[in-house]
Amino acid sequence: MVKLLSPRSLVLCVVLLFSTNVSAIAAVLGVDLGTEYIKAALVKPDSRRKETSAVAFKPFQNAPKSGAYPERAYGSDAMALSARFPSDVYPNLKTLLGLPADDALVSEYLARHPALQLEKHKNRGTVAFKSKVFSAEEEAWMVEELLAMELQSIQRNAEGLAGSDTLVRSAVITVPPFYTVEEKRAVQMAAELVGLKVLSLISDGMAVGLNYATSRQFPNVNEGAKPKYHMVFDMGAGSAKATVLKFQSRTVKDVGKFNKTVQEVQVMGNGWDRTLGGDALNYLILDDMVLQFVESPAAKKASVTIESVQKHGRATAKLLKEAEKLRHILSANTESRGSFEGLYEDIDFKYKITRADFEKMAEAHATRVGAAVQKALDAAELSISQLDSIILHGGASRTPFVQKALEKIAGNDKLRSNVNSDEAAVFGAGFRAADLSPSFRVKEIKISDAAGYTAGMKWTSPQGKAQQQRLWTERSILGATPKEVTFTNHEDLTVKFYQQIPSADGAVDKETKTFTTKNLTATVAQLVEKNGCKNEDIQFKVKVQLRSEDGEVDVVKASVECEAEDSDKEGSVMDGVKNLFGFGKKDQQPLKDGEESPEDAETASTTASTDTATTSSIESSTTTSTETSSASGEATDAAKPKKTQLVVVPVEFELEKAGVPELTKTEFSSTKARIKAFEMSDKSRRAREESLNQLEAFTYRVRDLLESESFVATSTKKERASLEKKAGEVSEWLYEDGADATRDELKSRLKGLKDLVTPVEKRIKEKTERPELVKSLRGTLNQTSTFIETIQKQIAEAEAWSSSASASAATAISDETSSVTAAPSKGSDDFDDLEDDATTSTTTAATPEDRGPVPVLYTLDDLKEITELSKSTLDWLEKKLAEQAKLPETADPVITVDEISKKAKKLEQVGMQLAMKAVKNFDGKGGKKSKKAGKSKTGTAANSEQTINAAEIEEMIQKMAAEQAQKDKEKENKPKHDEL
Ligand SMILES: *[C@@H]1O[C@H](CO)[C@@H](O)[C@H](O)[C@H]1NC(C)=O
Ligand SMILES: *[C@@H]1O[C@H](CO)[C@@H](O)[C@H](O)[C@H]1NC(C)=O
Ligand SMILES: *[C@@H]1O[C@H](CO)[C@@H](O)[C@H](O)[C@H]1NC(C)=O
Repeated sequence: MVKLLSPRSLVLCVVLLFSTNVSAIAAVLGVDLGTEYIKAALVKPDSRRKETSAVAFKPFQNAPKSGAYPERAYGSDAMALSARFPSDVYPNLKTLLGLPADDALVSEYLARHPALQLEKHKNRGTVAFKSKVFSAEEEAWMVEELLAMELQSIQRNAEGLAGSDTLVRSAVITVPPFYTVEEKRAVQMAAELVGLKVLSLISDGMAVGLNYATSRQFPNVNEGAKPKYHMVFDMGAGSAKATVLKFQSRTVKDVGKFNKTVQEVQVMGNGWDRTLGGDALNYLILDDMVLQFVESPAAKKASVTIESVQKHGRATAKLLKEAEKLRHILSANTESRGSFEGLYEDIDFKYKITRADFEKMAEAHATRVGAAVQKALDAAELSISQLDSIILHGGASRTPFVQKALEKIAGNDKLRSNVNSDEAAVFGAGFRAADLSPSFRVKEIKISDAAGYTAGMKWTSPQGKAQQQRLWTERSILGATPKEVTFTNHEDLTVKFYQQIPSADGAVDKETKTFTTKNLTATVAQLVEKNGCKNEDIQFKVKVQLRSEDGEVDVVKASVECEAEDSDKEGSVMDGVKNLFGFGKKDQQPLKDGEESPEDAETASTTASTDTATTSSIESSTTTSTETSSASGEATDAAKPKKTQLVVVPVEFELEKAGVPELTKTEFSSTKARIKAFEMSDKSRRAREESLNQLEAFTYRVRDLLESESFVATSTKKERASLEKKAGEVSEWLYEDGADATRDELKSRLKGLKDLVTPVEKRIKEKTERPELVKSLRGTLNQTSTFIETIQKQIAEAEAWSSSASASAATAISDETSSVTAAPSKGSDDFDDLEDDATTSTTTAATPEDRGPVPVLYTLDDLKEITELSKSTLDWLEKKLAEQAKLPETADPVITVDEISKKAKKLEQVGMQLAMKAVKNFDGKGGKKSKKAGKSKTGTAANSEQTINAAEIEEMIQKMAAEQAQKDKEKENKPKHDEL
């Protein structure tokens, strides 16, 4: 089941930047990665899909072959297989991402899906599943790979939906606020495995809040208004999350003198319960079902135990599916029932549950709702009364007891279920994707997501003491201004960044990144030697940040700094003088020591503050130099404070991911290759199915053809008989061996049939198209002969005039006219030499008064080729048509439409060449003026028309060629899609 959701507000906010002339724009996806459902919103122009988050491998009919890939099913199609093939349907994988295989959450998942065969990934220690569908040597499938397949299926569907020219290569994906860096990496890895670029991850609550903001204006803080606070309570299949968000707007400078108002959404605090969700509620019902089943008389008689049912893959899958159904029914009804035939060891089972029963079972869960809400409020340092509303999101938030629990905390009037609880997050993600993509322009909304966990760094002080410094709290904003930390270390060191993750045995510091300097020692030494810095003045400063797109630690700058005396020439002379007088650098040492606090505490060695830290350190250096001067007692020096300069030298470093080992490059590419091979296998399966469908469809078509009038008229009885026989054979074959035939076999069968049909269809085509083409060719021949005649007449007239003109030369015709006479006399050379404008204009002026026929642009020789061609073409046409007339309709024609078109084309081509020649000749004989003059004269209209047309045609051709060249160029330059 793929459910298409109705379009909504997103369309209003997302404006395509290029609305016209876009051939291949890259569309972007918003993906709401839920536990049970995975939803996608395609931004181009818009479309959304929701499908169950599951992938299934369909077992082969025979034993698995090595290197063969089974058919896959996704979404609800996959879930439909769960009772039949429980060992190869992988639902709700989100719960398992980024977790070590021995995590309690993994054990819980496995207990609920007993047929799945866990295999710990050998290097990563994360979850992978061994599939029974594959041969034994096929490696287990990592959760990330399985999720990658789901993403790929979504990507493919989105591309199908968006149109053939659209590539979907980028996405924004939602993640729960409790996702650790490790879990986020798992999502990113899944996307990368199928070539989907994650523009950003976004927390569930923020995605809902962002969607909420797309259609609203919030109080302007510049105008003294108070922000709004809303909580998003999101309870899905896997977990419950409460997020307090602050909404406000701010006026900021825009380009020029304009101001603009930007809406802002900020996460103030998160609370969550990782296992409070629809799944947990299903499990309550599941456990009750198993209990009741075991206690049913029939099961008792067979001594069925709870454990044996729980470990039975098919029985559990069936029960779980039903449990979910019953739970949904209980949301709207007070009672629901289910029944199972041969549930376990052929024992039937009937089950009934009332809403009251269910709510009693879920009493503890109801309390957990309140706990998550309170945690979020605590983190935000707000009380429930300060919240303007609670926005509900996620399927399980619709459960009556959950709403009751929320009402008890917040009061009836604060619950808002008007935000569509199915779409808000995916819209928010889609909006964010559009915002981050260069192809779209969206309403300006600034978002500030929170870190979710306390995080910091650990290192060893120069004295060998273990140091630890907290840098961020759970409320720290991702992508905020980098923090500058200062180390007293002067030798290369390793700093480990960690996230503090709460666990059953207290908080655990999980390493996320390792920062290693490469040339700190060398750089410090260089500062001492070259810049004359003293060791104790040298500070190692690092700027760190949490990236907005995924919360990873980023080091934006690492450098050593010291206040060195100005090292320009006067400075060095002064240094020399100072040293001479004995108040050189060494004197400063004791003073400096007294001022800088030693590394007694954690905080002393690091100044975890922003830019202020830099300022204060400069100040202290300045103070130092002044004090030095006064200590020296030299009045002159004191009056003129020493020039100092801040020397900053970058330090080379490496920042590597820590924690669960990443796949090596080889592993990654072989994993990618395996997914690709799987996809190719699917592709060729689809191609085979397409061939099968084509062949099947063609046999139906043959049936229709055999009854169609035109087909019968143009085919012989024998032809039809053999076609009918062959089509019959193919149909029969399709129902027997054909169903398993290879694509090549199917294609060759199709060809066999087509070979019989094509000649007849060709005859039909010839018969229908011929008359029109013959008519058109005749028309061209007619025009050509008219043209030839006109030119011939002209030439004759010109010759006659020319001889009569020379005869009457004595009758005092002006000199100018005689120069006109020169014009028609073939050779254009005469006029090529004319540079004098005056002469030309005189000539033209004289023309209308007294001139001969239009200048002739052709010689008889020029006409030779076209005359011959048009004659031979006409002969050919008449001869062929005569032959064709004698043939029956069932015979292949002796004259084809192709041949006729070719002849016509040739004729046009030669005609065009002739026209071009006229243009050239004409250009030689003087500009447009005489052309116009010629037109105005009588008798030779046909000729002048031709001339003008030719000139126009040439102009047009050149214009078209230029346009085409431009188009080709544009096409080449246009990027086809986002490169990854
Ligand atoms: C923009 O904002 C500034 C400061 O708030 C204000 O002085 C200025 O008048 C505003 N400009 C416009 C065009 O509204
Ligand atoms: C250390 O590395 C940085 C960055 O590559 C470089 O700019 C700096 O000059 C290096 N320092 C020394 C002393 O090699
Ligand atoms: C050419 O066409 C004209 C009218 O379109 C017609 O009068 C004339 O007879 C045709 N000539 C030939 C040779 O077909």
